[in-house]
Amino acid sequence: MANEKNTNNEIKKDVKSAKERLLLQTPKGMRDLLPEDYVFWEKAMHSASEIADFYGFGHIETPILEYADLFARGVGMNTDMVEKEMYALKTKGEDMLALRPESTAAIMRSFIENGMSRLPQPVKLWYFGPHFRYENPQSGRYRQFYQTGFEIIGGEPDPIFDAIIIISAIHFLEKMKIKNVIIEINSIGCKQCRAIYKRKLQDFYRKEIASVGKKKNKVVCSDCERRIGTNPLRVLDCKKDACVQFKINAPSILDGICAPCRTHLKGVLEFIDELNIPYTLNPYLVRGLDYYNRTVFEFFAEGSNLAFGGGGRYDYLADMIGGKSTPAVGVALGLDRIINILKAKETNADIRKKEKVFIAHVGAAAKKKAFALINEFYKNGVKMIEALGKESLQAQLKVADRENCPMVLIIGQKEVYEGTVIIRDMKTGVQENVLASKIIEEVKKRIYGK
Ligand code: HAM
Repeated sequence: MANEKNTNNEIKKDVKSAKERLLLQTPKGMRDLLPEDYVFWEKAMHSASEIADFYGFGHIETPILEYADLFARGVGMNTDMVEKEMYALKTKGEDMLALRPESTAAIMRSFIENGMSRLPQPVKLWYFGPHFRYENPQSGRYRQFYQTGFEIIGGEPDPIFDAIIIISAIHFLEKMKIKNVIIEINSIGCKQCRAIYKRKLQDFYRKEIASVGKKKNKVVCSDCERRIGTNPLRVLDCKKDACVQFKINAPSILDGICAPCRTHLKGVLEFIDELNIPYTLNPYLVRGLDYYNRTVFEFFAEGSNLAFGGGGRYDYLADMIGGKSTPAVGVALGLDRIINILKAKETNADIRKKEKVFIAHVGAAAKKKAFALINEFYKNGVKMIEALGKESLQAQLKVADRENCPMVLIIGQKEVYEGTVIIRDMKTGVQENVLASKIIEEVKKRIYGK
């Protein structure tokens, strides 16, 4: 009896400690963005905002929770995103909500709800924030991940808008130091020509599977076997070996699209050619979401099948979620993947170092002067780093060194008395005394050349 009691207590203890361990962990596939990481996210935000500003995109923020039906109807019931990956929850008021797995459907919802069709068309919007998909976490694939995106909604389905979206994404990747980006483009046609192509594709797969199956050879994966009936285009972008082999002889969608869709694609490609941007036409690129028509595209690094970003035209989405038909095109860029690459090239100090000046003090009176001077620099828009909590000069200079500050200002007892500040150039080690009343002017001149 006593033994049994002991075992039960041990089990209880084990359960308790497992629960406690979980308390101290982020949920699977999610992570903290620590201050040293956040520098990269700030760079991404800044880069996206500069591009948005240039091309005239307004910043929009939609809720992280939306009605789950928005994605079921907009993205599609039979897509992996809705079927397998969506975090859905029922509220106490019995509403079915979902953590947004993407933002395009939400932005279209907002366009309709806020009457944006009354604004001059098209409306250009951009966003930045976390998204959630219940996927198998691995390198570059998370359950909470970040996207920035650009959407052009309304007006005409002019190929120039597809081109502006593509070039905005390319500029963003350039700003994030992603080189040798591979751009894959395709057209998946319109409702009419796609329906004909889908039937052709279904016929091809059904015939092939029947004949290969008879020879007892390997057929497509079970997901694709199901998709042939429910969402046949998705069979084309399955990455499993058997399915890749199978699609080699499948009819190409580019041979099947109608004349207006072909003209549209040609228009997009001509604009891209105008900028001499290389791209690959990939007739198997279909994207996993139901709202697309005509142009679809993705961005990759050489040798990787994880996309940095993707998008396309979605002229039917407004209608699919209950609004009036509205042409639209957009892109989303996966910041976690982009930042993983950027991190291999630049440290956070590289990103921050640019204009920051370190201020060091020696003694209590100098500490007060340094504190007041930082405030003056703040008012003048000059970025400073301090370690006022450290008293030894050596310890302070160590921080300046770690932060790669190009310039250190030093105030000691003598400088307080004389009303001066020492400027030390960290590259050359040369030091000069400058009047405290002129220090801001002098620092600005040295850093910004003005
Ligand atoms: P998406 O292709 O599903 O498109 O996602 C865009 C990008 O988000 C991907 O290329 C990838 O870089 C990143 N991403 C997706 N899932 C994950 C994940 N689990 N972990 C890390 N990164 C991920 C869309 O979301 C569409 N809304 C794009 C769009 C905008 N279409 C028109 N407008």
